[in-house]
Amino acid sequence: MTKTALRIGLAGLGTVGAGVIRLLAANQALIARRAGRPIIVTAISARDRSRDRGIDMAGLTWLDDATELAAHPDVDVVVELIGGSDGPALPLARRTLGAAKPFVTANKALIAHHGRELAALAEANGAPLAFEAAVAGGIPVLKALGEGAAANRIVSVYGLLNGTCNYILSRMESDGLDFGTVLADAQAAGFAEADPSFDIDGIDTAHKLAILAGLAFGAAPDFAGVATVGIRAIDKADIEQAAALGFRIKLVGLAETADGELFQRVHPALVAQDHPLAATNGALNAVVIEAVPVGRLFLQGRGAGEGPTASAVVADLIDIAQRRTGLPFGMPVAELASLPRADSATREGRYYLRLSVADRPGVLAELTAALRDHGVSIESLIQRPHADSSAATVVMVTHTTTEAALQASLEAMAASPSVSGRPVMMHILDL
Ligand SMILES: NC(=O)c1ccc[n+]([C@@H]2O[C@H](COP(=O)([O-])OP(=O)(O)OC[C@H]3O[C@@H](n4cnc5c(N)ncnc54)[C@H](OP(=O)(O)O)[C@@H]3O)[C@@H](O)[C@H]2O)c1
Repeated sequence: MTKTALRIGLAGLGTVGAGVIRLLAANQALIARRAGRPIIVTAISARDRSRDRGIDMAGLTWLDDATELAAHPDVDVVVELIGGSDGPALPLARRTLGAAKPFVTANKALIAHHGRELAALAEANGAPLAFEAAVAGGIPVLKALGEGAAANRIVSVYGLLNGTCNYILSRMESDGLDFGTVLADAQAAGFAEADPSFDIDGIDTAHKLAILAGLAFGAAPDFAGVATVGIRAIDKADIEQAAALGFRIKLVGLAETADGELFQRVHPALVAQDHPLAATNGALNAVVIEAVPVGRLFLQGRGAGEGPTASAVVADLIDIAQRRTGLPFGMPVAELASLPRADSATREGRYYLRLSVADRPGVLAELTAALRDHGVSIESLIQRPHADSSAATVVMVTHTTTEAALQASLEAMAASPSVSGRPVMMHILDL
């Protein structure tokens, strides 16, 4: 092959950055045939120059300041694999796109917070901006939404977008362990971060959901509009009760539009055991796209890790080499809608409730009256006395109701002297 190589400047040489270098080397000839030209890394930047990364850095230009990759004469495309919505990633993106060079990133925080600004800059300068790796790692979901499903009206997009949460919830169920034990195991195995809050508090999922929603509904990402609840409060009792009722608990990110309003939420939800999401266990990710006329699309795969994430980054590079790049959110920035946020209080759905109550006559009547007074009816109810006390656990599944009605009933229940602690409430995914 005699064609000029596409020259990459790589910022960040951690899990994904080193993975990109290894993948470009391992599949060098194949990638060159698919890209129509070789893709080579020419310049790199990270924090610590002396660190052994298990990659051959001979012949590569090292830059202490990652943002200098943008103007480097031997760099045609900048790949940003540092991370974070603040720090060097944003100025690097601005400088690269401002210099009319393509910018590829796996950084969901950056795109969720600054997607509109960067898309506008890319458009103004005629430079591609690509971020397939930012959502669900190796699953090509942005290409599926932005290209394959481009003729459809998207009804909803939802899924399991964080492997750490899915792993924790799956192990809590399969091994009957509590949240803290599984989290500590995952951290010891290097599988969860030392500070796991971005994962377990749902923020990482919310970043990815905001990007998916932008592409699905022709809007810029609205991260601040994602109502987010993580998995810290999930008790193994809920996992057991959900299983007894035919459900599995998953951290679901869900976006849909109704009446011109955008609803975005990340929350633990009960998923029926025969739903494809329920069979997505361990660290796997999955995304469901409900679209008209195509119907349901279901994508499942590895959402993180060196190989899967590098796979998505290099796919973006092959597109750039082939000049196959579209607009970051599927349409010009001027066409992107600013969708008002839907009020979740009026949203309808079924709910799971778990309460700890005094085991004495009349308590159930009190609970059902609190629900009835707010127009909430019960689909099923289980009461289990505790073996070692005069308390009992009551688990209920409601019929379809609004969140406002349910919250009002919960307030009434929580105020009752027969109820101990806060009642647990979770959504049931009925999609
Ligand atoms: N890991 C995954 O599975 C995964 C999956 C999907 C998306 N992502 C995204 O990919 C990006 C990279 O993730 P990662 O897991 O590879 O992170 P990582 O292992 O922590 O690596 C981060 C890299 O950035 C470098 N860095 C940090 N601050 C820098 C600075 N000021 N200037 C230059 N370099 C700097 C670090 O340098 P040193 O090595 O010298 O410390 C390191 O090489 C993030 O946006 C992440 O959200 C990751």
